[in-house]
Amino acid sequence: MKALVLSGGSGTRLRPFSYSMPKQLIPIANKPVLEHVLEDIRNLGVTEIGVIVGGWAAQIAEVIGDGSRLGVKVTYIPQDKPLGLAHCVTLARPFLGDDDFVMYLGDNMLPEGTAHIADEFRAGRPAAQVVVHKVSDPRAFGVAELDENGRVERLVEKPREPKSDLALIGVYFFTPAIHTAVAAIEPSARGELEITDAIQWLLTSGAEVKASEYHGYWKDTGRAEDVLDCNRQLLMSLRPEIAGEVDEASELNGLVRIEPGARVIRTRIEGPVIIGAGTVVEDCHIGPDTSIGDGCTLRGSRIRDSIVLAGATISHVPGIHGSLIGRGATVDAGVETDPYHRLVVGDHTRIEVAA
Ligand code: DAU
Repeated sequence: MKALVLSGGSGTRLRPFSYSMPKQLIPIANKPVLEHVLEDIRNLGVTEIGVIVGGWAAQIAEVIGDGSRLGVKVTYIPQDKPLGLAHCVTLARPFLGDDDFVMYLGDNMLPEGTAHIADEFRAGRPAAQVVVHKVSDPRAFGVAELDENGRVERLVEKPREPKSDLALIGVYFFTPAIHTAVAAIEPSARGELEITDAIQWLLTSGAEVKASEYHGYWKDTGRAEDVLDCNRQLLMSLRPEIAGEVDEASELNGLVRIEPGARVIRTRIEGPVIIGAGTVVEDCHIGPDTSIGDGCTLRGSRIRDSIVLAGATISHVPGIHGSLIGRGATVDAGVETDPYHRLVVGDHTRIEVAA
């Protein structure tokens, strides 16, 4: 079996991050979403992975490389325009050949893994096996309607009035039968070749389509709130380790990971918290639920429930929470007597200041 990871697209819901980096590289517990995805695929015993890339191809290749660091072999497949999930399958045909494959959306996180579903697929080899998950509002997703025996009756992409609460989540298993289906469908109203329509085509033509319910934690990391939620979830199973330096005046509680070269000085850390390599934290109160990237500097600040990306600086800010701070960004308290805020704010940034 091979794998196809979809890492193109525009990711506009993650503005302003999507102006400078692809959403698949946003770090969760200090590891890019795409790396989590590739590791999950490796855990299925699949190592030959095609990765669809759009305009961010160079940045993605810089981080993931040929995949050998993660124990997989990555082949990049360029896509000029995000013309749909099924379009990606068409582009990947030379890479996929006539092999079975798992298609994985590069912005979806299923930390509990899909190994049992892959085993089911390998045993039965239906034309398609989709993964579904109960959601409270299915209108933003592909939706699966099942009969009373759990057989798939119909699949609809983003229905206005969903007839089921089972959303298709970003993992699909296919035999080569899917190639006939993607060649047969037409673009949808939003102008994309929908994988949901291709699977529906298989159903209509009498092929076997199975659905397996995933009961674990799942997130499509499309918005900042989702990224923070996912960070909280992953930090719950953080492997604690102190590889950096922590001085005697600091206090560490709960799950805390300090990466090599990091320095923690006169600071209180309430885990779960991860502090990246080479980061300096001085006179701070950090956590819980916080990931600080590599090479950051934090001084005299208090921060919880947040993600700070590599190279950011935070100085003398007494309370940050629920925040995503971008690479190399600076947040500082300014002059105490100045009643005004000084802001240099990028396009589509969101800032909340205390009145
Ligand atoms: O998150 C699950 C949902 O993903 C499913 O319920 C839907 O059935 C499925 O269509 C998809 O919906 P989205 O509208 O959320 O897909 P999105 O445009 O966010 O793309 C998903 C991933 O695929 C993302 O990592 C970008 C990548 N992609 C997307 C398109 C349209 C590509 O690589 N190329 C593309 O042409």
